Amino acid sequence: MSHIQIPPGLTELLQGYTVEVLRQQPPDLVDFAVSYFTRLREARARAASPPTAPPSDSQRLEPDPGLVADAVAESSSEDDEDLDVPIPNRFDRRVSVCAEAYNPDEEEEDTDPRVIHPKTDQQRSRLQEACKDILLFKNLDEEQLSQVLDAMFERTVKVDEHVIDQGDDGDNFYVIERGTYDILVTKDSQIRSVGQYDNHGSFGELALMYNTPRAATIVATSEGSLWGLDRVTFRRIIVKNNAKKRKMFESFIESVPLLKSLEVSERMKIVDVIGEKIYKDGERIITQGDKADSFYIIESGEVSILIRSKTKANKDGGNQEVEIARCHKGQYFGELALVTNKPRAASAYAVGDVKCLVMDVQAFERLLGPCMDIMKRNISHYEEQLVKMFGSSMDLNDPGQ
Ligand code: CMP
Ligand code: CMP
Repeated sequence: MSHIQIPPGLTELLQGYTVEVLRQQPPDLVDFAVSYFTRLREARARAASPPTAPPSDSQRLEPDPGLVADAVAESSSEDDEDLDVPIPNRFDRRVSVCAEAYNPDEEEEDTDPRVIHPKTDQQRSRLQEACKDILLFKNLDEEQLSQVLDAMFERTVKVDEHVIDQGDDGDNFYVIERGTYDILVTKDSQIRSVGQYDNHGSFGELALMYNTPRAATIVATSEGSLWGLDRVTFRRIIVKNNAKKRKMFESFIESVPLLKSLEVSERMKIVDVIGEKIYKDGERIITQGDKADSFYIIESGEVSILIRSKTKANKDGGNQEVEIARCHKGQYFGELALVTNKPRAASAYAVGDVKCLVMDVQAFERLLGPCMDIMKRNISHYEEQLVKMFGSSMDLNDPGQ
């Protein structure tokens, strides 16, 4: 029997086409194939010829699904191996992946003109307040943070306004000053609400970090006010800083037992979105009964978990807090309220100076799905632990205040 050889590149070529068909659902597959492969050939020709001038903004934002990224990825795969930032894959849509890739080892001179949006004192103080808990800004030095704040601009939104549409190219990162927003994800032609932002937090970082199309639609469900940061400044400062963060936290994150089952690339995505927070001895990190929006991993120091319960054993002691657990380096806390969607079941205090890596609830849900079984198993021990301590069962979700 003769042996049929599959020509190199055929599988990838057809996969690329198939992905675009699934993504765009064209009415006529043949017409779509003609246009897809014609654009692919043109993109290849463009990628093969040396650039004459830097791409203009409009060129950079031109949506051209996957095609140029395909051609560029093929022609530059060797260079890509040196980069610390995630390499856009074949399915990426952005045109300028090569021009924008950042190599942290090359201490290149920063020649881009700085973006500055002048602000009144009142605006500046509102902006500072909105940004004070933004995890992506936590590891910036003073100068970087000041450049970020200078570049941010105010945007007010109306009810039902789409701030971001899934599938679009990424233009800005947004910090919420006020307002509520729905996070909608369309998959298999079904729109699902995967979460909300309630008057604080930030969104729109993924497309800018990874050169991917917007992964979700963000719709205002009230009037609101946002602070935007343009893509170029975001990449110049935040993405550059993330490369540094990866080096700083890589080995620690790899040692965290909870995260062992994740792929290396999944762990690095965690590093990209975490922020480091420092607490002084005795400082309260979590308050029982509060609404929850963050998850914590202890980087150094010790954390005491205290509960105020209404059980019989604690009745005489009034409303006193009782220590129920101690968490150490590499351990996590603050997952229970996020998993159960209930208020915090206990309070957490720093014992000595403590450093924690903190993740917001949206990243927790997006990135820690594979660790959910381990967390749920540990949650099932909390109840036993409480019964052992207080001698009677208590509802973890009744903060009992
Ligand atoms: P980006 O893909 O740039 O634009 C949509 C944003 O929605 C995304 O960045 C995240 O900041 C935010 N988001 C929040 N939850 C999710 C989720 N579950 N999947 C994808 N994006 C999400
Ligand atoms: P959360 O309820 O979000 O905030 C308080 C955290 O304390 C909780 O998540 C757990 O991570 C942690 N914790 C540790 N031991 C217990 C326990 N026995 N009961 C409840 N919470 C506990």
